Amino acid sequence: MELRRAAITAVGHYVPEKILTNAELEKMVDTNDEWIRTRTGIRERHIFDQGPTSEMVVKAVQNLLLHRGVSAEEIDLIIVATITPDMMLPATACVVQEKIGAKNAWGFDLNAACSGFLYALSVGARFIESGVHSKVLVIGADKMSSITDYTDRNTCVLFGDAAGAVLLEPSVEKEYGILDQCMYSDGSGGAYLNLKAGGSLNPPTHETIDKKMHYVFQDGKAVFKSAVVCMADVSDEIMNRNKLKGCDIAWLVPHQANLRIIDATAQRMGIDSSKVMMNIDKYGNTTAATIPLCLSEWWQAGKLQRGQKIVLAAFGAGYTWGSMLIQWSLASPEKP
Ligand code: UT7
Repeated sequence: MELRRAAITAVGHYVPEKILTNAELEKMVDTNDEWIRTRTGIRERHIFDQGPTSEMVVKAVQNLLLHRGVSAEEIDLIIVATITPDMMLPATACVVQEKIGAKNAWGFDLNAACSGFLYALSVGARFIESGVHSKVLVIGADKMSSITDYTDRNTCVLFGDAAGAVLLEPSVEKEYGILDQCMYSDGSGGAYLNLKAGGSLNPPTHETIDKKMHYVFQDGKAVFKSAVVCMADVSDEIMNRNKLKGCDIAWLVPHQANLRIIDATAQRMGIDSSKVMMNIDKYGNTTAATIPLCLSEWWQAGKLQRGQKIVLAAFGAGYTWGSMLIQWSLASPEKP
């Protein structure tokens, strides 16, 4: 039996209105706009103060369903990639299912940090390819402000809140959709990027709170070194494996953690910076949301066009990393 291909047939995103600028952070910790911009590329980030992660997801998904003209009841499966679920249990996917009224769907959360959306897209695609399902919602969403220590300048300048979502359906044309992927993880990286308490290793106590163990910890330098190598290697690998050159790729869609990591990846792939989706300046690192947020923004702007080959690449806690090659199948939105 010939395998079906999975294609992205709709995109949506939500970014909270409230903005936290570098100038505002200058008043909170010992930092400055110049340091943040030159070391990371970030100018501002958005903060969600209207509820949990699922509320951002609902807004992103409603947007998507409206555009596609698909009802929530038609969804078969919901995968939410997040490290900031509403609660430890139930899964945010179940919360979302109830809130959007996806009565016929099942769902689960997936934790792969900044690679979460890529991992979730890979899992979702298998359900389409195998013929088990025909409508899978893949969501990347994080309310990073809920696990960020706003007294720690090493991390608080980096993160923001957002949600992005895509719908996967069987591709109508064989040559369109998700074509290839390279996925990796290396658990030895766990020491450099983690959140130590709240799980079974360190259940919450007064002590874990006093020691600020419920906030994200990052050894930035160590993570930076691995991220640069792994994102570039894995992007290079998918290009070589598919005999592609920089000129064959319309867009590189990288996880938005640091402008310098993105530049190094694009350079290694031989891709000009004008073909790199970049919105880190506006949103910072929104963890699992960065890639679907880029896809949705670029599609809405009419810059992501049917037939274009794009490469998605991410690196995050775990360590986890990967790349994906897609031939974009969704037609540009109609001009009003
Ligand atoms: O998304 C998941 C994966 N995460 C990543 O890919 C992030 C990877 N890491 C990074 O992006 C970078 O390492 C950071 C942006 C986090 C930090 O940049 P860096 O160039 O690696 O800086 P650093 O940590 O080596 O710090 C350099 C200096 C230090 O001062 P000294 O020791 O040289 O005196 C820091 O204390 O910059 C200082 N510093 C700051 N200064 C002003 C650290 N944070 C700040 C800050 N403002 N916010």
